Amino acid sequence: MSVLVTGGAGYIGSHTCVELLNEGYDVVVVDNLYNSSKKALDRVEQITGKSVKFYEADITDLEAMNRVLDENKDIDCVIHFAGLKAVGESVEKPLEYYQNNIGGTLTLCEALRAHGVKDIIFSSSATVYGDPAFIPITEECPKGVCTNPYGWTKHMIEQILTDFHTADADWNVILLRYFNPIGAHESGLIGEDPKGIPNNLVPYVAQVAIGKREVLGVFGDDYDTPDGTCIRDYIHVVDLAKGHVAAIKKIKTKPGVKVYNLGTGNGQSVLDVVKAFGKACGHEIPYVIKPRRAGDVPVCYSDATLAKEELGWEAKYGIDEMCASSWKWQSMNPNGYNEA
Ligand code: NAD
Ligand code: UFG
Repeated sequence: MSVLVTGGAGYIGSHTCVELLNEGYDVVVVDNLYNSSKKALDRVEQITGKSVKFYEADITDLEAMNRVLDENKDIDCVIHFAGLKAVGESVEKPLEYYQNNIGGTLTLCEALRAHGVKDIIFSSSATVYGDPAFIPITEECPKGVCTNPYGWTKHMIEQILTDFHTADADWNVILLRYFNPIGAHESGLIGEDPKGIPNNLVPYVAQVAIGKREVLGVFGDDYDTPDGTCIRDYIHVVDLAKGHVAAIKKIKTKPGVKVYNLGTGNGQSVLDVVKAFGKACGHEIPYVIKPRRAGDVPVCYSDATLAKEELGWEAKYGIDEMCASSWKWQSMNPNGYNEA
């Protein structure tokens, strides 16, 4: 059985390919390499000793998607990672975000339907909860108001895929709402490789740790939290990747539409992460307090009970292991997948 992995060359996609191959699945990746490198897939092959079938193609290209499915008749399920994900950029470029993320999903699904592939696992996000109505966040928590077009694309794609199932019960849809994925594979061969100035906390901290950037700006220390900085549910990307393998097993039971939080159930503050990373890299991370960042919610962490009960999955790694693996990747690959 083959799994089609859209966006499989990306950060979470590449880690998921490793876990799928380790579990004996064949993997077909479609990625346009807009935010990734083919080298990530070479490294996936190096780690697993198995091969990945790769198509450099765009999910908005119906002809290309039909060709992939024509040439791989054994694909019977898709994990859909492909999408643009920079929150700030989405505010500047809403058209591109809606076109790529929503348009791409519609085109992908058109090709899937034409080929009778109706099992889809979608990369959603805790961002759909907006400013969460309660903490810890269960899947019952109402979806909130998103503060940016990126978040709305997740919100809307969840609805679109749910509507597909309503119209045709042959569609099985698992919506995975990720909390904050960080860390890297234990080999140090694959990891997060942001282009330009990192938007997210851990990639920024990692670049400060290695001396590429001078100092971390901590966005706000006057929130109503124990140390005044925001709290998030950081989850090791390898745990997250294994959550997708669990979701594939679930989707084979034809569950209809299911929603699962993928988080650890624990919250860490920005300063907790800074401290843990300092421990991992052997020196303190310099930081300065900056004003709050627009759109940040003070506290966001999951109740991860449902995934444990229904998928038999739970996160194993803690913040120290997340930071240690991130540091290993960063120090082995100071320029990411670019060797220069
Ligand atoms: P990423 O940018 O590393 O991976 C996304 C991949 O999709 C990239 O390789 C990119 O080249 C590819 N892609 C984008 N548009 C495409 C298109 N039109 N056709 C083909 N390929 C395309 O990001 P990631 O962190 O691995 O995230 C994967 C998914 O998980 C995304 O949908 C993201 O929104 C979602 N997600 C990520 C986070 C996070 O914090 N990283 C949190 C919640 C949800
Ligand atoms: N932060 C800093 N300094 C930085 C970067 C971040 O202090 O340089 C702080 C933020 O203010 C926030 C925390 O670190 O309090 C985490 O910020 P991230 O940008 O790493 O993560 P977010 O929780 O804001 O958002 C991430 C993804 C979203 C996704 C969301 C929920 O970027 O795409 O998790 O899954 F929707």
